[in-house]
Amino acid sequence: MHLSKSSCLCTIIVAAEALSSSEWRSQSIYQVMTDRFARTDGSTTASCDLGDYCGGTWKGLINHLRYIQDMGFTAVWISPVVENVNGSTADGSSYHGYWAQDIYAVNTNYGSAADLVSLSDALHKRGMFLMVDIVTNHMAYVGCGDCVDYSKFTPFDKEFYYHPFCLIDYNNQTSMESCWAGDNIVSLPDLRVEESDVQEMWAIWIKQLVANYTIDGLRIDSASSVSKGSLKEFESAAGVYAIAEVFNNNPDYTCAYQDYISGLMNYPMYYNITSAFSSTNGDIKELERGVNTMKSTCNDVTLLGSFIENHDNPRFPSLTSDMALAKNAIAFQMLADGIPIIYQGQEQHFSGSSTPKQREALWTSGYNTAASLYGHIGKLNAIRKQAMKNDDGYLTYNAYPVWADDHTIVMRKGNNDTQVIGIFNNLGSSGNASFDLLATSSGFDAGMNVTDALTCIKSATDESGDLKIEIKGGLPVVLYSTKRLEGSGLCDG
Ligand SMILES: *[C@@H]1O[C@H](CO)[C@@H](O)[C@H](O)[C@H]1NC(C)=O
Ligand SMILES: *[C@@H]1O[C@H](CO)[C@@H](O)[C@H](O)[C@H]1NC(C)=O
Ligand SMILES: *[C@@H]1O[C@H](CO)[C@@H](O)[C@H](O)[C@H]1NC(C)=O
Ligand SMILES: *[C@@H]1O[C@H](CO)[C@@H](O)[C@H](O)[C@H]1NC(C)=O
Ligand SMILES: *[C@@H]1O[C@H](CO)[C@@H](O)[C@H](O)[C@H]1NC(C)=O
Ligand SMILES: *[C@@H]1O[C@H](CO)[C@@H](O)[C@H](O)[C@H]1NC(C)=O
Ligand SMILES: *[C@@H]1O[C@H](CO)[C@@H](O)[C@H](O)[C@H]1NC(C)=O
Repeated sequence: MHLSKSSCLCTIIVAAEALSSSEWRSQSIYQVMTDRFARTDGSTTASCDLGDYCGGTWKGLINHLRYIQDMGFTAVWISPVVENVNGSTADGSSYHGYWAQDIYAVNTNYGSAADLVSLSDALHKRGMFLMVDIVTNHMAYVGCGDCVDYSKFTPFDKEFYYHPFCLIDYNNQTSMESCWAGDNIVSLPDLRVEESDVQEMWAIWIKQLVANYTIDGLRIDSASSVSKGSLKEFESAAGVYAIAEVFNNNPDYTCAYQDYISGLMNYPMYYNITSAFSSTNGDIKELERGVNTMKSTCNDVTLLGSFIENHDNPRFPSLTSDMALAKNAIAFQMLADGIPIIYQGQEQHFSGSSTPKQREALWTSGYNTAASLYGHIGKLNAIRKQAMKNDDGYLTYNAYPVWADDHTIVMRKGNNDTQVIGIFNNLGSSGNASFDLLATSSGFDAGMNVTDALTCIKSATDESGDLKIEIKGGLPVVLYSTKRLEGSGLCDG
């Protein structure tokens, strides 16, 4: 679905450099939790109390953009940038950025407004794009339940802008949209975003934010706790692609939001991919059903964010340390429909589980570009880029399962001669398997030379176009026309 822009002059000015939804389809996003990515002093040894600010800054991030770009990413999503409440609580402090107090000031723990402009400039100079996380559902107050001093907030400085206090019940949609998240220490006063006065104040702010920092895309937090209509207003005010966090595994529930906003985090597939690959007993057939269900339920799965890790969910390696399983899950994620999103630390096989454990300081890795998954992710970005270059229809082609058994699923994405055939399995590192990939599944021609883009191993289909597939050590296989792979930098040497 493509949301039409309003035709007023203001949109045209804001949109001068704005990136549309269809332009976002071709991006690959690296998710940065600013406090945990890089410090201004470049330290790789600074300790980090996971519940508090650890010193990551926008300047630190600027100094490590090459680490991100060399993995093939074209865009960076950063945590919310606005001034947050101070004070430590049992839940930790506001190091994550999701506890806004003054949305017109920046969070000085991450740097100055000028530093944020510099980050945006530095990305654009590299031909990369900036996505910023925004929280429209609530403000935050450290104190006690509902005893809030509203005058502390900018600009929503009166009780009048908020729903009356009630504790949120995540099983009740009305409650989700009108009650307060948080607990007795940090309360998250819930804004009346379904009403036009509050919406208009957000729209003004969003327009300014996008213009002041030349932002190319927005990620909207807690989207299932705001009204659907407000999401449409916010994306249109931004004039750029926006992707909403609808944290739910139900395709019907989640996809309904795509009538209002271009992008959604693909939570249903997150659950499916995780459960299929995190153990050798994972249900591959359920993954197959999941792919098909999402395609038939969402307006456009190619505009969804395809992820398996983020700052809110346990990291994949917290479920299994098996490297082959991690490689399959990541390959599946990145070659699926939609915009791949890799969360910082995923490339280092970090294994933090629930919050805040999955928010490790990345600097402790030394930004190791020799890490196995760093290279794996780099190859997958390169394969995707080559597929886009060779096939105008690659990104909008809906990937589909062409074959599956209990441990292996074969996915096709892309038109004839330039199709990517991804063969993903949950056999684990000690698993080997072989099977015949028929031409009717792969769409390969007779006597066609194909290369596994991950290993550069070449093979050729037989006179029927069929190919014997060998899976070794449980690794994924990504087949592509040998001829068409030339120039990708992958297997050229
Ligand atoms: C929080 O503390 C920082 C650093 O001391 C300060 O710059 C900022 O203004 C404070 N924010 C609030 C909302 O009090
Ligand atoms: C859902 O939440 C709303 C708002 O708190 C409340 O009025 C309503 O009674 C709840 N419904 C159910 C079925 O609990
Ligand atoms: C954008 O910049 C203008 C001019 O400096 C400033 O008045 C406004 O508060 C800024 N808005 C935001 C959201 O940063
Ligand atoms: C996988 O997808 C199917 C179909 O959408 C769904 O019914 C199932 O609950 C999903 N599995 C998990 C573990 O989320
Ligand atoms: C898988 O194949 C490798 C060599 O290709 C062999 O060393 C290993 O023992 C095999 N594993 C199993 C479980 O057969
Ligand atoms: C792709 O190739 C298959 C046979 O290999 C053929 O049936 C199909 O029509 C082709 N599709 C297009 C779009 O050319
Ligand atoms: C496949 O590759 C071989 C060399 O490995 C070459 O001789 C042959 O012509 C190629 N076939 C096609 C159809 O390109």
